[in-house]
Amino acid sequence: MARLVIVSNRVAMPRERLSRAGGLAVALRESLGQHGGLWYGWSGEVSENPDPAPRRIRQGRIDYAVLDLSPEEHKGFYLDFSNGILWPLCHYRLGLIDFRRSAWESYLAVNARFAEQLVAQLKSDDIIWVHDYHFIPLAAELRRRGVQNRIGFFLHIPFPAPEVLAALPGHDRLVRDLCAYDLVGFQTRGDVRALTEYILHESDGTVLGNAGSEDVRISAFGRDLRAGAFPIGIDTAEFASLAAAEAGSDETQRLSESLVGRSLVIGVDRLDYSKGIPQRFEAFHHLLGSRPEHHGKVTFMQIAPISRGEVAQYRKLRNELDGLTGRINGKFAEFDWVPVRYLNRAFARNSLAGFYRHAKVGLVTPLRDGMNLVAKEYVASQDAADPGVLVLSRFAGAAREMKGALIVNPYDTEHISDALHRALVMPLEERRQRWESMMAVLNVNTIAHWRETYLAALQAEGGPQMLEAAG
Ligand code: ADP
Ligand code: F6P
Repeated sequence: MARLVIVSNRVAMPRERLSRAGGLAVALRESLGQHGGLWYGWSGEVSENPDPAPRRIRQGRIDYAVLDLSPEEHKGFYLDFSNGILWPLCHYRLGLIDFRRSAWESYLAVNARFAEQLVAQLKSDDIIWVHDYHFIPLAAELRRRGVQNRIGFFLHIPFPAPEVLAALPGHDRLVRDLCAYDLVGFQTRGDVRALTEYILHESDGTVLGNAGSEDVRISAFGRDLRAGAFPIGIDTAEFASLAAAEAGSDETQRLSESLVGRSLVIGVDRLDYSKGIPQRFEAFHHLLGSRPEHHGKVTFMQIAPISRGEVAQYRKLRNELDGLTGRINGKFAEFDWVPVRYLNRAFARNSLAGFYRHAKVGLVTPLRDGMNLVAKEYVASQDAADPGVLVLSRFAGAAREMKGALIVNPYDTEHISDALHRALVMPLEERRQRWESMMAVLNVNTIAHWRETYLAALQAEGGPQMLEAAG
């Protein structure tokens, strides 16, 4: 039986709470918990002279093998290239990119170093599954070192249209390296289309499968591979039962008492400029400014733990939100009502589930997002008898599936404000219908479904190969 080897920059180490980790770590811990196997990536530590060999830890069915980054690698590979260049590029924020060749070189060098160390850990029949934009060149580096295993890749964030991608010096090398995988998975068919168009218009490659297809075969840069859409999900049943159990918890009760009967609007995000948080604050500001009937009746709680605090754009965002919170509260607060509660901290998953369930509106308005798991968690947490309403950006991958949400343009703050009003006054019957249609999707497209369909597709590439069974 083949072993599953997962590679990702962020590794949720044993005993580490998942709360700061983002969607990727949540999904991968679930996948490895089921199959067992090796989780290889960055330790999260920066050290002056990193040990060349990975540190190994075993817990339950998961072996962890992690490397530290040197301060130079942390800056060049993680801060400057992955999060200072690739992240804004993939989120269509070209104006935020500060391209430096040294960062690109560091990115390639770290990929080469991680590949070098991984080779020593591999067995010939391992199935390797690499995740996210930090490690696009990893398969090419492994192939260069003679690795012939099946290697899959999944991109958790959007894949940009070719016109955008072409702004990156070295875009052709990046896509050539992407083609060293056997299966490239994306969140949506729009991402598959973007890669397809790149291959057709920016390379000599060919694509089998029609333009709008969510599953294509690519021949390019001397390789044949498959690319497809595998929308990531959540553990819907687990989230629903967590939320139901939390409804009576002390914490949820305290939240409820603190609201003294007011409706709660909730936002939960890493503090990231792709999440559209300032626009969301402006929309709430507009709601209060234009509809006085909500004064004293609605509280907006934004939970946003600091993320990538060393990157300048993230620090700027933090200052902006501090200012907006002060401005809205200064203008509208009463001695017994503070309209915006803004918390820069993470919460345990069960607490979040209880908060979601208590909120009449889940406000999820990214300017671009690969999927957005918070939207799905919010829906799964609702009480079937009295569900809340999801207000969702059309630019989140989740909008392809969550048709029962009120879909908004996140750049149009007045549109968001109208949707907020509509959500706050929506009759029970409509709320139920919308929620049921979204739950029907969430009950099928679960995290287990994502993992199994992806891995089945990867195993099918190049002949049958069985993975160790899911536990
Ligand atoms: P991203 O991967 O870009 O961070 P997602 O919405 O896809 O965005 O995933 C975020 C994950 O991180 C979700 O599982 C969410 O519950 C979790 N998360 C986000 N903010 C917090 C927070 N303040 N406390 C705990 N978990 C959080
Ligand atoms: O899901 C997108 C993602 O960038 C993951 O790759 C990452 O692990 C997560 O967000 C959190 O970001 P970071 O690892 O930079 O803290």
